[in-house]
Amino acid sequence: MRVVVTNNYQEMSREAARIVARQILAKEDSVLGLPTGDTPTGMYEELVQLDNRRLIDFSKVITFNLDEYYGLPLDHPGSYHRYMREKLFDHVNIQEGSIHIPDGVAKDIEEECRRYEEEIYRYGGIDLQILGIGPNGHIGFNEPGSDWEMTTRLVKLSEETRRRESRYFRDPTEVPTQGITMGIKTIMKARKILLLASGKEKAKATTKALKGPVTKKVPASILQLHPMVTVVLDKEAGSLF
Ligand code: F6R
Repeated sequence: MRVVVTNNYQEMSREAARIVARQILAKEDSVLGLPTGDTPTGMYEELVQLDNRRLIDFSKVITFNLDEYYGLPLDHPGSYHRYMREKLFDHVNIQEGSIHIPDGVAKDIEEECRRYEEEIYRYGGIDLQILGIGPNGHIGFNEPGSDWEMTTRLVKLSEETRRRESRYFRDPTEVPTQGITMGIKTIMKARKILLLASGKEKAKATTKALKGPVTKKVPASILQLHPMVTVVLDKEAGSLF
């Protein structure tokens, strides 16, 4: 595991974008696994700039998002569909058909999860999976206690996660109680993983995940067993290292 501690959020974002850019330059039809949330917004801004300066090209890139809320209309301001459009997809030349995000309003959710998982492997699997980490150690919506063997599925969100996510909603009661998420098994099958964390709020979770025992209580701790992980932190997230 390679750990890079940067001075601040902007440096973390630049370093993350460089890693993604190198992946795209090395393989133009890379399959990327993408997160939402506060952590990767700076990285997406950097990637948009690299694309607009024609230093990278998204035209053959395939993307699979980690997760989406269950039951939230796709154009709801809190949805991950909306987030991805606003932060990345509307600003780069990615092809519409190359974008994959779980459909939280699909009629048959079990079928949607199965289809999502199959689609990933139809494209040959994920080359680079980018992850954020929750203060409780979650990755995707795989909350503490999640089984390692799980693939894409419908899950219940912890109250802690719902409370945190309420910053994206007008009213905390609007935050869905469930989500669709890639499972830990799906994530661990990616060829390479890039984990990002920024801010004091993430220092404990990051240290537990990367230095503590591998335990279901800290889902991100499983990454210690992945052969190709790069972790990029800012100084605050790396302060307990
Ligand atoms: C988002 C996701 C989550 C976030 C995590 C950190 O797609 O899968 O696991 O990465 O909750 O969120 P932020 O970056 O907002 O602190």
